[in-house]
Amino acid sequence: MELAKRPEDMKRITTKELADKFIKEQIAEVRAQVGDKKVLLALSGGVDSSVVAALLIKAIGKQLVCVHVNHGLMRKNESENVIEVFGKELDANLIYVDATDRFLDLLAGVSEPEKKRKIIGAEFINVFADEARKLEGIEFLAQGTIYPDILESIKQAEGKQAVKSHHNVGGLPEDLNFQLVEPIKLLFKDEVRVVGEALGLPHTMVYRQPFPGPGLGVRCLGAITRDRLNALREADAILREEFDKNGLAEKVWQYFIAVPDIKSVGVKNESRYEGWPAIIRAVNTKDAMSATIEEIPYAILHKVTDRITHEVEGINRVLYDLTPKPIGTIEWE
Ligand code: XMP
Repeated sequence: MELAKRPEDMKRITTKELADKFIKEQIAEVRAQVGDKKVLLALSGGVDSSVVAALLIKAIGKQLVCVHVNHGLMRKNESENVIEVFGKELDANLIYVDATDRFLDLLAGVSEPEKKRKIIGAEFINVFADEARKLEGIEFLAQGTIYPDILESIKQAEGKQAVKSHHNVGGLPEDLNFQLVEPIKLLFKDEVRVVGEALGLPHTMVYRQPFPGPGLGVRCLGAITRDRLNALREADAILREEFDKNGLAEKVWQYFIAVPDIKSVGVKNESRYEGWPAIIRAVNTKDAMSATIEEIPYAILHKVTDRITHEVEGINRVLYDLTPKPIGTIEWE
């Protein structure tokens, strides 16, 4: 990441007209920077990397090579969505890497949250670097760095400690000495979304709620197992479906399921049925530094509970986390 300061007189991008102007300027700038060379991008499907991809496809077309690493910790249908939008609709040069086994094998038996985060972050770089080495003639690396990332780095450089080690791509091995292309590095998140819509990306992608780099890895609490991870993914998909149907998706800042590594006794078909609890988290915040709890109507909680306990193998209870941040962080790990 290149630390750059946002000019004080830079106008906030709030309208399609301003976004179109920004896009035009960036297209010219990127073309001038990279010429006829190839550019590599790690495309997670999050807002930032998606907007960078769409912008670069407009600027340099097939000179952009997108690599989507599926670490096996994506939410339901997330990788499929990336392939659909970028591989099919936008006809991008897209390499899809299913690295599920690499990640889950390394994570087996690891229960300490920071250790899990470090493993996922480091392995992400390994997988991405492996793909980069297979490609020829790449001179540039595009990144979805946005202005808050730069502000955060400046804070860390001043010695302020972070609560958790966040992972976003960075720090590639030395043999991969790419020049950086960071077309949205001076934008705030709301501006990135306006630019994304102006670029014609689907609304659901542009307004996607934040999803941590380590993905479901920090929501499948403790040592990850494939069966519990699958249960988490299915339960999370049900929560999202019900929030969508009931108009909560646009209203609540972030919501998800976490599944701890504990079992309780239940009863199903008149037999003992041991299962994990699914924990609902639904929070509102402005900047993720503090957060309050969304008051989900009871009828929706009942519906979600009913569906998860009937449809998801291995879950026999549903709990609702009422803890604000602070004292709880938004994610459980
Ligand atoms: P916490 O759990 O610290 O999370 O209250 C604050 C916000 O950050 C997201 N989060 C991450 N985002 N990489 C990211 O890009 C990460 O490693 C990461 N960990 C947490 C979290 O989902 C919440 O929105």
